[in-house]
Amino acid sequence: MPGGAVIGTVDTGRIEAPVTAKAYMMCAFSAFGGIFFGFDSGYISGVMGMPYFVHLYTGLPYPPTTSSALFTLSSSDKSLITSILSAGTFFGAIAAGDIADFIGRRTTVIIGCIVFIIGVILQTASTTLGLLVAGRLIAGIGVGFVSAIIILYMSEVAPKKVRGAIVSGYQFCITIGILLASCVDYATQNRLDTGSYRIPIGIQMAWALILGTGLFLLPESPRYFVKKGKLDKAVEVTARLRGQPRDSVYVQQEVAEIVANHEYELQVTPQGSYFNSWIVCFKGSLRDPGSNLRRTILGTSLQMMQQWTGVNFIFYFGTTFFQALNTISNPFLIGLITTLVNVCSTPISFWTVEKFGRRPLLIWGALGMVVCQFIVAIIGTVTNNGTGNPNAVSAMIAFICIYIFFFASTWGPGAWVLIGEIFPLPIRSRGVGLSTASNWLWNCIIAVITPYMVGTDKGNLGAKVFWVWGSLCCCCLAYAYFLVPETKGLSLEQVDRMFEECTPRTSSKWRPHTTYASEMGLTDKGAVQHDVTEVEHKV
Ligand code: BGC
Repeated sequence: MPGGAVIGTVDTGRIEAPVTAKAYMMCAFSAFGGIFFGFDSGYISGVMGMPYFVHLYTGLPYPPTTSSALFTLSSSDKSLITSILSAGTFFGAIAAGDIADFIGRRTTVIIGCIVFIIGVILQTASTTLGLLVAGRLIAGIGVGFVSAIIILYMSEVAPKKVRGAIVSGYQFCITIGILLASCVDYATQNRLDTGSYRIPIGIQMAWALILGTGLFLLPESPRYFVKKGKLDKAVEVTARLRGQPRDSVYVQQEVAEIVANHEYELQVTPQGSYFNSWIVCFKGSLRDPGSNLRRTILGTSLQMMQQWTGVNFIFYFGTTFFQALNTISNPFLIGLITTLVNVCSTPISFWTVEKFGRRPLLIWGALGMVVCQFIVAIIGTVTNNGTGNPNAVSAMIAFICIYIFFFASTWGPGAWVLIGEIFPLPIRSRGVGLSTASNWLWNCIIAVITPYMVGTDKGNLGAKVFWVWGSLCCCCLAYAYFLVPETKGLSLEQVDRMFEECTPRTSSKWRPHTTYASEMGLTDKGAVQHDVTEVEHKV
């Protein structure tokens, strides 16, 4: 068998090429995009706590003449610096869907890397708030491109049996990015020169260079070519991705199914003008789980819920939150530990997402988070943020770590896996873009308001803020139970059919019983070849 060792085999519904080691490597490489998503959102928490950075950006004298709680950036500056990245990513992700349909998924990610590098250069050069904020905004646009389109690309090129695991690999890279950022922050925190923040910021260029260069060598998504009507190209890249010859029955059937599904979707909801093609994302009835409207709401709300879990409170403001707990001697170290827990827990999902499925993962994950957050809230309330009570502080930190464990092994990867799977091809790039934008919008909202809720100069909620996150996690639990469908083990085209035929709560029992290709008479070997001419003709 060309392309390396055989890892997997045939299944229900239709035949899929065995998963080769080479295919794994190709799909898994794009997960690298997660590193700079994670690093970029992760480095800022530590940098905002660095003495030299605080001194330079606030003008406060160093060594501090006030208590450590007052030697800090104002809540409004923290809020602006942190949230501006997410504002950029929001717009980047929305625009990226259209660009990816126009010039291809791969090229869009490469452009995202270039934009990101420009933003990083500005941030590295900055010594004032204005330039830092502008740099983070531009870098954010690049991250928006990459974070939306990498998910789209990975979901479209990965073999269905390992799609969940491969997209979880992206989340794993996000967590590694956050951890690397913490390590670099930890190493440079005490420097009394601009290297303290310039090193963590500048290092990010390496991630963009690696991702951009690597993607040059990878094939484009076959679904992009089908959408463009270039079926010959679709066959060529599918053959490369699956490690099979072009005329292999696996390749022919896979492309035939994508074509048939695409044509079916276009018949059901024709695209029309540019404006109409956006409207299509919101068409259909709210009652119908398979309507585009329901799927767009599902994707965007799923990412909103992922942010409502409150995880970024820890990753964005962890260092300053732990600093405010006074009793802790090394808040940077605790921040580092939380990111380590995040990294180590994510790989569990590679197995569980395929073994138990997406739905149970989100339901049990939300339950675990609710319990941990309410425990932290209770301890924090009863002991007045653990003041003078090291045991209470240790217990809070322990439950925060368990809460991160639940997030990292469930909602962290789960939300990304699902948004890559739930949209039909005609609206997939926009759907994924909108959902990613929703992630960043809520990420931004939380980054803006949290400093005001917990800042010692503002709401001063301290650990009581976990009442808020715990309550929001209750919403995540109900949401997962009532609205999240099971997509495990299905091809993207089968997911499409599943949406039409059942509700989220009955979805795990649904099995594929027919294919679009067989319904449209495209299952014979050679049928795609015939269809190439047909579709090219139509386009
Ligand atoms: C979330 C990020 C978060 C990260 C933590 C991602 O899935 O979208 O907002 O910072 O997980 O690992």
